[in-house]
Amino acid sequence: MITCRSAAEIERLARVNRLVAQVLAELMATVAPGVSTADLDALAERRLREAGAEPAFKGYHGYPATICASVNEQVIHGIPNPRPLKDGDIVSVDMGARMDGFYGDSAVTVPVGRVSAEAERLLTVTRTALEKAIAVVKPGGRVHDIGAAVQQHVESHGYSVVREFVGHGIGTSLHEEPQIPNYGTAGRGARLAEGMVLAIEPMVNAGKAAVKVLGDGWTAVTKDGSLSAHFEHTVVVTGSGCRVLTLRDQVVAEAV
Ligand code: MF3
Ligand code: CO
Repeated sequence: MITCRSAAEIERLARVNRLVAQVLAELMATVAPGVSTADLDALAERRLREAGAEPAFKGYHGYPATICASVNEQVIHGIPNPRPLKDGDIVSVDMGARMDGFYGDSAVTVPVGRVSAEAERLLTVTRTALEKAIAVVKPGGRVHDIGAAVQQHVESHGYSVVREFVGHGIGTSLHEEPQIPNYGTAGRGARLAEGMVLAIEPMVNAGKAAVKVLGDGWTAVTKDGSLSAHFEHTVVVTGSGCRVLTLRDQVVAEAV
């Protein structure tokens, strides 16, 4: 069953998701050559707790950190570590929080210093795929409209959609129904209705779609070693479309 949230519940979801967006914006502004993903993780946890929230990922099936930080060929679920990021890397920062009983979830992939034109293009295509997916969300629409929009955009640019991981409903748990694949056929899947809250998160590989999980049990990487990018927003279905609950401040968004 997919839960439709009341106006009061959506207010609470909006608050925790706004916090996630604000902290993610600060993390994005902190990313630079020499900074480590462990530094970003410590900052993220401090900011969430200062605001009265808790990390949502930490302890989830034993996950050890506040953020997932996935560098270059890492797709998602990279565990933060003390190695400094290098000029030319790309890093996906994914963060979830719980506050007042409700969850927020958002991710962004950012360049470290100056990156290749190919890396820039991958980031742009993946971010645009998320925007196109958000643009098709409306009451009466279907879950697979989302994946169809992502797949169409990504594949028309010669990139691949990751199949093994999906977006999800979110609310009083981090992962609720429905699962939201990033591929599929428009017009199929569960019907969307006002008040549903969805975390939409395309993962896009520059090369082939196949991924594998490393020996740490978490880090997913591309099998062919190609670069991978990941963007995620939490949205609520409204009367006419949807509202993005994890929008970042204008001034920081311009720095992306
Ligand atoms: N945004 C990802 C997801 O929704 C991150 C989950 S990390 C985990 O699946 F540690 F919580 F699994
Ligand atoms: Co998510």
